[in-house]
Amino acid sequence: MADYKMEAAKAALQLIKPGQTIGVGAGSTIANLLGLIAADKDLAASLTFATSSFKTAALIMEYDFRLVGSEHVKHIDIYFDGCDQFDAQLNALKCGGGIHTSEKIMASLADEFILIGDDSKAVEKLDITYPLVLEVLPTALQLVNQWLLKHIPTAKTTMRMSTQKDGAVITENGNYLLDVYFTEPMEIAEMDAVKMVPGVVEHSLFVDLAGRAIIAGESGVRILTPR
Ligand code: 5RP
Repeated sequence: MADYKMEAAKAALQLIKPGQTIGVGAGSTIANLLGLIAADKDLAASLTFATSSFKTAALIMEYDFRLVGSEHVKHIDIYFDGCDQFDAQLNALKCGGGIHTSEKIMASLADEFILIGDDSKAVEKLDITYPLVLEVLPTALQLVNQWLLKHIPTAKTTMRMSTQKDGAVITENGNYLLDVYFTEPMEIAEMDAVKMVPGVVEHSLFVDLAGRAIIAGESGVRILTPR
């Protein structure tokens, strides 16, 4: 069976020019892209990388690429990242990693944010498969829960808990993660509004940030732009 994530990564590689600063997120498609870059030694030696992901940073170090810390990176030429699902306007939900705050900072620093992955991620309108994830200041936990109960009473909210220790998952910023599952598809603006609740650091919906999406599937590789 064809490896669609690898096909998408190969198409992404074509967009990278020597000397650029490349931002990379997390996931298997990103790992494929880094493997392809590593195979082109001249290109790899000319690039500088920045990443929002601890795991991806470890991979970058393994390849011995130049890595600049996220607090020091001033400009990114292209930020590539996977996602869980994106719609026709390339609004993307990024839920699995719980690192969406750093990912959004990188995407916003970049000249261009490009989504990459297999074509199962592309939908006309975001559905309810994935939760909207909120990074929440610990002191705002009750306020955010109360706001959700009042404004979206049908939503089911769970705190992301650690499987390796007793207690909540704590983000790299020292905050909690709330997974908000909707019972019916929501409008983008309704989900985006959650950002305004005091204590919500970021949510995992990337609105109007991606300029292109490179996806691969049975019908080949497609490069999509917001409709
Ligand atoms: C996590 C993400 C990841 O980028 C996404 O899950 C990676 O997907 P894949 O492994 O299919 O490339 O958004 O929040």
